[in-house]
Amino acid sequence: MKSSEIREKFLKFFESKGHTIVRSSPLVPGNDPTMLLTNSGMVQFKDVFLGLDTRPYSRATSVQRCVRAGGKHNDLENVGYTARHHTFFEMLGNFSFGDYFKRDAIAYAWELLTKVYLLPAEKLTVTVYQEDDEAYDIWANEIGVPKERIIRIGDNKGARYASDNFWQMADTGPCGPCTEIFYDHGAEIFGGPPGSPDEDGDRFIEIWNLVFMQFNRDEAGNMTKLPKPCVDTGMGMERLAAVLQHVHSNYEIDLFQNLIKAAARETGVTDLESKSLRVIADHIRAASFLIVDGIIPSSEGHGYVLRRIIRRALRHGHKLGQTKPFFYKLAADLNTEMGTAYPELADKLSYVQQVLKTEEERFGETLENGMKILEAQLGKDPHKLDGATAFTLYDTYGFPLDLTADICRERGVTLDEAGFAEAMENQKKTARAAGKFKMAANVEYSGAKTSFVGYEQLHFDSTVIALYSNGAPVQELNAGEQGIVVLDTTPFYAESGGQVGDQGAIQSATAKFAVDDTLKIQADVFGQHGVLDSGTLKVGDKVSALVDTEKRNRTIRNHSATHLMHKALREVLGGHVAQKGSLVDPDKTRFDFSHNAPVTAEQIAQVEALVNKEILENHPTKAQHMSFDDAVKHGAMALFGEKYGDQVRVLDIGTSKELCGGVHVNRTGDIGLFKIVSEGGVAAGIRRIEAVTGEGALALVQSMARRLNEAAAALKATPEEITSRIGQVQDQVKSLERELNALKSKLASGQGDELATKAVDVKGIKVLAATMEGADVAALRETMDKLKDKLKTAAIVLASVADGKVSLIAGVTADSIGKVKAGELVNFVAQQVGGKGGGRPDMAQAGGTNPAGLPDALAGVAGWVEAKL
Ligand code: ALA
Repeated sequence: MKSSEIREKFLKFFESKGHTIVRSSPLVPGNDPTMLLTNSGMVQFKDVFLGLDTRPYSRATSVQRCVRAGGKHNDLENVGYTARHHTFFEMLGNFSFGDYFKRDAIAYAWELLTKVYLLPAEKLTVTVYQEDDEAYDIWANEIGVPKERIIRIGDNKGARYASDNFWQMADTGPCGPCTEIFYDHGAEIFGGPPGSPDEDGDRFIEIWNLVFMQFNRDEAGNMTKLPKPCVDTGMGMERLAAVLQHVHSNYEIDLFQNLIKAAARETGVTDLESKSLRVIADHIRAASFLIVDGIIPSSEGHGYVLRRIIRRALRHGHKLGQTKPFFYKLAADLNTEMGTAYPELADKLSYVQQVLKTEEERFGETLENGMKILEAQLGKDPHKLDGATAFTLYDTYGFPLDLTADICRERGVTLDEAGFAEAMENQKKTARAAGKFKMAANVEYSGAKTSFVGYEQLHFDSTVIALYSNGAPVQELNAGEQGIVVLDTTPFYAESGGQVGDQGAIQSATAKFAVDDTLKIQADVFGQHGVLDSGTLKVGDKVSALVDTEKRNRTIRNHSATHLMHKALREVLGGHVAQKGSLVDPDKTRFDFSHNAPVTAEQIAQVEALVNKEILENHPTKAQHMSFDDAVKHGAMALFGEKYGDQVRVLDIGTSKELCGGVHVNRTGDIGLFKIVSEGGVAAGIRRIEAVTGEGALALVQSMARRLNEAAAALKATPEEITSRIGQVQDQVKSLERELNALKSKLASGQGDELATKAVDVKGIKVLAATMEGADVAALRETMDKLKDKLKTAAIVLASVADGKVSLIAGVTADSIGKVKAGELVNFVAQQVGGKGGGRPDMAQAGGTNPAGLPDALAGVAGWVEAKL
């Protein structure tokens, strides 16, 4: 039975039992900080289990793409070593949200396995949680599984509920006891039943896990009951396929065989049993789908999971002898296997290939060198790899620790992981000591939060509630002192979300404090940083806080334009564009985003046009507070990886909707002109655009116009004529070059005539050895031909010197090559000018690096020829 049929039969079966078929969710769970990657089918339903969300159905079924390469469920290190572990796999699942429970869940599973997939009942063994008599009774008395094939498993992992038969999604979240169904691949395979010492062998393979979701586990480990008991099941598609296709290893199923062949094709390997081919075939699935779901390789978070997987695959490719990019080519083979079931893969194939190729090129440079370092170290100590070397490999050569561990495991070498962690910690300490933090770190403050009025007000009367000098609290600041002022209410925006802090002044009746930056000293407490220009400022003073309006206005124009640009980039380049960083100040906006190729001039023009269109439409901007869920419903873009509170601020600017706490223009028309200044790459898969607005855009356009006028004046043309004028100048240059070459050749032949008169007769052969000033090799050759014609019977050497290098050419006329060989002749001269040469008997070339030897060498030619005759 092919994989596609297995998926279909599963979904159809549960549909016939009243389940709604739900599409696989992406590999990155939406707004769930407890979960790095989707590791099972239940993830998209987590909030439904917890009673925080509802669906129009109470029974669902899905085929969910999953990755287990980090977090609570991590199979990365087993890939390649067992027949059944993968980083990426598909999970077939059925779910009940407070609808049916144990009895139906077990009965459905049994019916599907034995009546639809037609597995022999005697090949199946089941486990139940030690205390779950109810599940035990259902298996024994209702289904009729013989007692010797129902195994109770208790808390076998060292703590309460830490058990193979108690499933939890992550350290926190929904959990409950489970019952698992195992398939016996037969006595010829090594391994024992679950719970036995040999359970880790490949004979008894868990194919289906039925979880009876009953609790929510919190951070302290407390278990509270879910609103209603639920069911969450998961069956590994690849494992079931192995059973139904009568093979013992997942890697032998249809989906994998073609990928393994493709990996063999790209690495030139013929042994299809190679472990490395399996690793590569597994990893192309995980890597490609992670990229499809919006992740790009990076040094942290999701991006680092992806990077580890790709680099591990590349190392296995290297092991098989492939040193050129190859991995990205397998994405097309994967698409052939899975593009129909997952159209999102087919849609993004060329993007996936690009991202993979970039990462391959990047790592290719250091993999080879890193391997040399590793081999050298293992040459010194073949039993243990020290932490310092592992850290150097990580830090300088980009070897993720698990990649190094994989190599060590292959060779039976112990890896000093503690030493690695220590080296890492030392480096962090050094970095911390060297780092300068802009945030007013560690100033002690325990008063009220700052109330921020700067969305509407730029000037505000307020009270000083704290003052700091040299990082310590003080009661007053005196003229000339630097310090930080905290106000009870402030119109000054404190740096966050990429927007810089406001500048301005704080004035009392007698003192003036110049604010040159505003930074948060705590999450909700703003500090105005600057210097007291005059007077004395005391805690408790009534002051006027005055934001520098000009700078603030320039900043917010750039900020609002950033939102419009983000939206426009997604429209022009595609939905994969996501913000990776931004800086908005009075002069510009600098915006980093994920995209894998340079943005073309035409795309830049499109983005500029879209943004300026929204500006001209002069939409009012609108800020609203709402719950995160409502914001998502509203269509607002949330920044991935940001933490948002319960209430978020949603900003509609033109057609853009984003979560943002920053300050913005009132209407898009306030932005003025928007113009992109530059575009470039900052890291693999990350581009950076700088753009300007308002006065900044005007200044840019004016400076471009000025340069254009200057260029026009230099070309004696009007700006409109510049392009055609440059064309004319280029044509002129070309024709002058042609003339120059003709002249050079004429000059050479003139020199030839003159040189011919210098030939001396040596026993009937005309011998000539001469230098031609300023001649290149082509001119030497041309002159040589002319001289041969003229002198008829001759042996000739011509030389020229340029930039300390000697060019030599020797020629002998056909009637004399029996006596003198051009190759030998040129070599005779070359050896005396620091070179070596040779060639045909009638014509040979050489070079040398010692011009000083040339006069004597040429003077010796006649004698050398004479000796040959
Ligand atoms: N969520 C359960 C598992 O992944 C079914 O095993």
